Amino acid sequence: MKAQELRQAWTEFWVARQHTDVPSAGLIPHHPSAPMFTNSGMMPFVPYFIGEEKVPWVPPRASSIQRCVRAGGKHNDLDEIGWSPRHLSFFEMLGNFSFGDYFKPDAIRWAWEFSTEVLGLDGDRIWVTCHVDDDEAVELWVDEVGFPIERIQRLDKDNFWEMGDTGPCGPSSELFWDFGAEVGPDGGPANPAAEHRYVEFWNLVFQQSFRLPDGSLRPLESKNIDTGGGLERILGVVDGSPSVFTTDELAQLVGEAESLTGVRLGRDAQSDRTLKLLADHARTMTFLVNDGVIPSNEDRGYVLRRIIRRAVSFAYLLGVETAVAPALAQRTIDLMADAYPELRSNAETVLGVLGREEDQFRRTLRGGLNILDGALADVDEGGELPGSVAFLLHDTHGFPLEVTTEITEQRGYGVDQAGFDVDMAEQRRRAREGGKKGAVAVGDEADAFAAVLAAHGTSEFVGREVFELEATVVGVVPAADGTTSVFLDRTPFYAESGGQVGDTGYLTGPGFVGEVTDTTYALPGLHRHVVRVTEGDAPSVGSTVDAAIDVARRDAIRRNHTATHLLHWALREVLGTHVKQQGSYVAPDRLRFDFSHFEAITPEQVRAIEDLVNHDVLANEPVRHFETTKAAAVDLGAIAFFGEKYGDVVRVLEAGPHSTELCGGTHVRRTGDIGPTKVVSEGSIGSNLRRIEAITGFGPIERIRTEEAELAAAAAAVGVPRPELLDGIDKRLAELRDLRDEVKSLKAKLATGGAPDLAGQAVDGIVVARVDGLSRDDLRSLGVAVRDQPDVRAVVLIGAPEAGGVALVAASSKESGIDAGGLIADAARAVGGGGGKNPELAVAGGKDATRIDEALDLARTAAGIA
Ligand code: SER
Repeated sequence: MKAQELRQAWTEFWVARQHTDVPSAGLIPHHPSAPMFTNSGMMPFVPYFIGEEKVPWVPPRASSIQRCVRAGGKHNDLDEIGWSPRHLSFFEMLGNFSFGDYFKPDAIRWAWEFSTEVLGLDGDRIWVTCHVDDDEAVELWVDEVGFPIERIQRLDKDNFWEMGDTGPCGPSSELFWDFGAEVGPDGGPANPAAEHRYVEFWNLVFQQSFRLPDGSLRPLESKNIDTGGGLERILGVVDGSPSVFTTDELAQLVGEAESLTGVRLGRDAQSDRTLKLLADHARTMTFLVNDGVIPSNEDRGYVLRRIIRRAVSFAYLLGVETAVAPALAQRTIDLMADAYPELRSNAETVLGVLGREEDQFRRTLRGGLNILDGALADVDEGGELPGSVAFLLHDTHGFPLEVTTEITEQRGYGVDQAGFDVDMAEQRRRAREGGKKGAVAVGDEADAFAAVLAAHGTSEFVGREVFELEATVVGVVPAADGTTSVFLDRTPFYAESGGQVGDTGYLTGPGFVGEVTDTTYALPGLHRHVVRVTEGDAPSVGSTVDAAIDVARRDAIRRNHTATHLLHWALREVLGTHVKQQGSYVAPDRLRFDFSHFEAITPEQVRAIEDLVNHDVLANEPVRHFETTKAAAVDLGAIAFFGEKYGDVVRVLEAGPHSTELCGGTHVRRTGDIGPTKVVSEGSIGSNLRRIEAITGFGPIERIRTEEAELAAAAAAVGVPRPELLDGIDKRLAELRDLRDEVKSLKAKLATGGAPDLAGQAVDGIVVARVDGLSRDDLRSLGVAVRDQPDVRAVVLIGAPEAGGVALVAASSKESGIDAGGLIADAARAVGGGGGKNPELAVAGGKDATRIDEALDLARTAAGIA
């Protein structure tokens, strides 16, 4: 069976059972509770599982083929890749979903029907596992499909699926295929020794709980179905192959790896592993870049970087000295663009990003290998590479530990794994500490938030239209820092999200005034007003309060938010459509926008970007915010990658004639409301990553005022009227240059003026003296002037010039026959220098000014006047 045939059979099966076929979402998940990557088919549907949003489909069912990455966070299969016959860091997950509609009986019956009738699998070779507590599922397997109870096993943790550290979860029932006695011992899936024989190919999860940040479980309002089967595994099962690498698309990628490395599968275990790893990583890196991830040192970008580096270094160990990533990506695109057409339009970006990252790593790869060789030179034969070196290679040169281990093993050494682990643990600890900023509530507070959500549901946000209203208090939770978290049934306060800061303002009620210092999401959909009570007591649950936001502040935020959209559009116009949002921050005083781009931006480009934005501002076209389906938004050309949202209803913002983007923030009504927009900074914040900051509204006016005041102060300091400032500065600089020249020539004159005095110090016609503070040239002029005085046969001058070091000059008259160079040869050596050997005029330099007096003595000795 081919991948494309399975995709089609899957979709047809579920559409015939009233499921809406939903296209794959991107790999960057949207929901606040989500882990780093989309790691399963259910993730884009989280808002429906937890009742945060209305399910848009009637009946509330969906099916999908979702691209997934398991390379970070709770689900991370990276270390298994290539060794395991069936683990992949990128795979496609077939899934069917019910949101409070059908439950266990249908899910089990249909899974059986698809497996045995559509895939044509022999039911006698299927095994099933259920959760230890789930009698119901076991009974259903027996009653609904007549499954033999002897092949049902019950497991604990293995049959409880969780999306991440937080989020939806529930007991599961899994289907396994028995690949037969030749692959492993019997005993069913519960026998850990038989893991290669009994291979899981489909997981039915009964999503009924939500894991909170403190680790406790909250029941979900509806009982849901989430099933997932790995496309590649199912193909393997249908084809009777326990290895996913023989399925059609992966086999071709293995073939690509073979031709890039010149090594064929079957040579040895190590190279087989590399070929499979390259086939796997090819898809992971291609799709991550396709979905907007850029290699960097943080978060997702770091995981992508590691994946690229693993691929490159393993290829390198097979002797490949030329680029592999672009070729692997190109092959992936060719193979998969029919199923994922956006791969084709993004191809140039994908190949460019991967090519540049590989080039850069190949340069550090060599440096890292030198460090490795250097460190091994200090290790006794058969000894271990220090863990700190392995960690350094991992941390700063991007060498995965297994790469370091492999190289050292080839050379007959080991690696101090324990030392590496210590450094690694320390780094993780630091990363965790860093990540705690703005952490989710834990313990009692989290429970209290969850209780408010359970009792009253999510908050109704009406703050796009209304800035002040009467609302009912539905929850009050005191915080340790003296503030109070107040929850309302409806609210005009925007909760911080999508880069836009939360609103501030006031809550007032009978005998009570509270300042709202921030608004955040306590839990998805639940607006938490952080209140500092300034009069009376905190309001009680059930009371009515007047809730009013700081409108002037919100207006400034709105201006910056809509301007961010115009800026995003303009950046893509001027720099190209590879520009993708990587983060943003929208505050009242400024906006910040991070984006992918691969080179510096010229001042001309910045101007062009500003001009485009201001042009649309002055066009004063309407800004329209509306809800529509994802498909309609895509048809409109809406930009949506960062925190891409799935399926159902999305909010689209059209700002003026050009910018169309998905956005849940608050915006101005017409582009003219934004006012003048000015870029105030632009620069690199990491490889391939840039940050631009801008101001709008009153901001540029304030800035002009500040700069005007600074210019006026500068003009006053220079002593010219403001319009003549530049001329004035030029004039002052010219004066400065003239004065410097004058000082120089005066100094020289002054120096030669001292010649008669120095000549007076002659002993036997020879002057040896110390003169500090003159440059070498001036000292030379002085020396010549002294020599030319009557009765002087020779002169040696040594001193410390202002610029540092030591200057030495010797001059002698022709008639004297004295070798000037010889006079200062020893002296120059004494001050750590050397130089002129000319018999009549020798100039030398030295370093050590503390030995000048010693040098003078040596000169006297050389002249015979000591
Ligand atoms: N969420 C479950 C899994 O990923 C079933 O789809 O295995």
